[in-house]
Order: sequence, then structure tokens, then C-alpha cells
Amino acid sequence: MSTVNSDKLSSARFAQATDAFVEVFTASVDFDKRMAEQDIQGSIAHATMLHAVGILTEQERDAIINGLNHIQQDINNGQFVWSIKQEDVHMNIEARLTDLIGNAGKKLHTGRSRNDQVATDIRLYLRSEIGHISTQLIRLQSAILNLAEQNADTIMPGFTHLQVAQPITFGHHLMAWFEMLSRDYERLQDCCKRINIMPLGSAALAGTTYPIDRFMTAKLLGFSRPSANSLDSVSDRDFAIEFTAAASLIMMHLSRFSEELILWSSAQFDFIDIPDAFCTGSSIMPQKKNPDVPELVRGKSGRVTGHLMSLLMLMKSQPLAYNKDNQEDKEPLFDTVDTVINCLRAYADMMTYITPKKANMYASAKRGFATATDLADYLVRKGLAFRDAHEAVGLAVRLGVDTNRDLSEITLSELQQFSDLISADVFDYLTLEGSVAARKHIGGTAPDTVKAAIALARKHLIPPC
Ligand code: ARG
Repeated sequence: MSTVNSDKLSSARFAQATDAFVEVFTASVDFDKRMAEQDIQGSIAHATMLHAVGILTEQERDAIINGLNHIQQDINNGQFVWSIKQEDVHMNIEARLTDLIGNAGKKLHTGRSRNDQVATDIRLYLRSEIGHISTQLIRLQSAILNLAEQNADTIMPGFTHLQVAQPITFGHHLMAWFEMLSRDYERLQDCCKRINIMPLGSAALAGTTYPIDRFMTAKLLGFSRPSANSLDSVSDRDFAIEFTAAASLIMMHLSRFSEELILWSSAQFDFIDIPDAFCTGSSIMPQKKNPDVPELVRGKSGRVTGHLMSLLMLMKSQPLAYNKDNQEDKEPLFDTVDTVINCLRAYADMMTYITPKKANMYASAKRGFATATDLADYLVRKGLAFRDAHEAVGLAVRLGVDTNRDLSEITLSELQQFSDLISADVFDYLTLEGSVAARKHIGGTAPDTVKAAIALARKHLIPPC
């Protein structure tokens, strides 16, 4: 026999009280109270509209608004008493309102349901959090631009397959990160367009018989328009899935940056220094300085992708319209928001203090025959077919490997063994500086091109509103 909670009958329809465990099991207030501010804003707009269409008197509207503002203050001061008996944030606030103002409080729920209320709250919440995420994203982009500017002509090896491929500039590498984040920013703004549509007034599922003005409520809450279909708007969480997908891509990018920072700060690469403030030591190995922030961010990318999967699975088998399943959307969503904001913030703070070890980067580019393609291109310009040039340079690289010399250190007469098209001007192309400077088309790694890309990026870096 299950334990019944005799304090509460969940509605007049029930003859039996909710099972005590079921009461706890089905409650969401512990986590959805995070949307209290949005819930109160939604209710203020709803009450304002109910008065405008003649459903509430002016006194009732004012009592509701004052009561809700009072509740908001209590929440801000930590004085509001949340109760699991009231199940969720919506019922907690409504019940307290009725305690405070009496009968008028009971009229607030006219022409709405918790189903459209919760969908509205999540949309308001996400809209506001996208603003906060965008702020951190732009902080990180600014820090990247500054570092790229200081390193527009810092030479390092560029990699494919994690093998040295061609010389690049550190500024160019950083601007690749910048580009990824620019697309992330655009994705957030784009999904915000679909988030910013108002479900309120859809009521439980079919709309309401009261003469509500949904355009008015939408305007009061800053939504672009009321939603077009009541069934769809109380049930679908595609906007939350889309947001989580955008967040997963941000985390995937941060995880890639992390992987590089971790490699670069290792003794084997030794390309950068990550300041002590973003690292920790080992409790047992006194020499250790571990890149904790990038490692944690790389690790946290997994949980956000996990949340994306959770939300997709949560949605995929639900028939129209609202189902209680949807209460499960909040924890993944909230954790996604927290994780993305915290990771971007840690990254933006850290990025300003990353210092490249330029001499090591340079030496490493030199060690990997990074200008082999430049030698092949040189031979092609002199009239050799590319495949033959590839072959000739392969032989030159083999000589370099055997004698432990970079291509630029092999003598002219030795190089001429591989092709008689080679003359003294070849050394202009075999230096790392010559190699990067030659890639000066748009999108290339030449220092001047990188500086132009940075200047353009600065012009377009829109501060979030
Ligand atoms: N706590 C619920 C949720 O998060 C609010 C909506 C409840 N609606 C209902 N008909 N039980 O989805």
C-alpha cells in the first residue's frame, strides 16, 4: 500500500490525495524555480491584457501586478518559501499571489494554462540567456583578435594529420578560431528568431473561449508575434533542441581549441605558455603544471552534446499536444546554458594571457620541411609539371632528412642535382618568411592578409544588445 499525503488533494476532481512519493517524483520546482522572473513577467503581461479586454477590473489587475512584484522581491531577497506541494514554479507563485491578494489572485489563470505558461517561460529564459552567452562569446572573440594582432607575423608550423605541413602565422591560426566563433554567434542569433515567438494564449492545447488579445501580450513581452498554432506551441521543444545544437557546436569548437592548447603547452611542443592562474599542479609530481582549464572545457563538451541527445530523444515519440515528458526538458537546458557560459567565460579570461614562445614555434616549422610545397610551386613556375616537381622535391627532402638539414640549408649545387631549373633565387622561397608572405590572396596566411582580416573582423564584431 502506498503512503498518501493527506495534506493535499491535487484537484477537486480527485477523491484521493497524491501519493507522497509521487508528489516528490512529479514536482519540478527544485529546478524550474530558475524561471521565476520570466514566469512573473509573463503573468504581469497576461494580467495587463486581461484587463485591456475587460476580463479583469483595474483594481484586480493592479492587485495582481503589485502582488507579483512583491513576490519577485521576496525571491530576490531569498525570502520566498518554495514548496514541493505546489509542484512547480507556476503554481508556487500563483498560490502565494492568492495568499497575498485574495480572490483576484485566483483570476490570473483565466484564459491560460500551465502548458502555454511553461512554453512561454522557457522561451523568455532562453532569449535572455542567449544575450549572456553572446556577451561571453564576443569577449572571447575580442581576446582572440588582440592576440592575433600581436602575432600576425609570428611563424609557426601548420599541420595536417598532426604532421608539419606548411608554415603559417600564429595570427592566421587564431583567426581560424575566430571564424568558427563567428558562425557560432550567427547560429545563436538565428535560433533566437524562432525562440522569440509567443505561445501564451494557446492555453492547454486548443486556445481559449475568452476574447484574449495575443498580439498585445506578445508586444508587452517583446516577442515578435504570437504563435500560429495552439497545439504546436504548447508541445514542441524544437527551439530548445536547436539552441542546444548551437551550444553543442560552440562546445565542440572550444574542445578543439582546448586540444591544441593542451598539445602546445606540453614539453614536446612547447609553443605557448598558459598562465599559472589557469593551471594547477600535481599533488605528487612537483614539476607538473597542468592545463586544467582547457582540459575541463574539453571534458565538458561531452555533457552538452549529451543534453542535445536527451532533448531529441525526449521529443521524438510524443504525440500532440503537451505531455508531462516535457518537464524533463529543463535540467538539460539549464545545464547547457551554465556550461556554455562558464566555458566561454573561462576561455575569454584565459585567452588574453596566452603567450606564444615564438622561437620554439619558428624552430619547429623549420624542422618539418614546411617549405617543400613552396619548392614544388617554384619548379612549376619555372615550367616543370607539378607531378615531376613533387618527385624532385621528395628527393631533396630525403637528402635533408639524411643530412639533418632544412631545405633552406641545402646548397644550391646540391639542389640543382634534382632539377636544373633551380637557380639562386630559390632561397627567397625556401625561407619560412618567404613562404607565408607569398600566400597573400584573401583567406591566406600572409601577415598583411592576416592584418587585413583582423581589421575587417574588428569592424564587424557587433557588441550584443
Ligand atoms: N512543470 C510542468 C512542465 O515543466 C508545467 C506544465 C504542467 N502542465 C500539466 N498539464 N501538468 O512541463
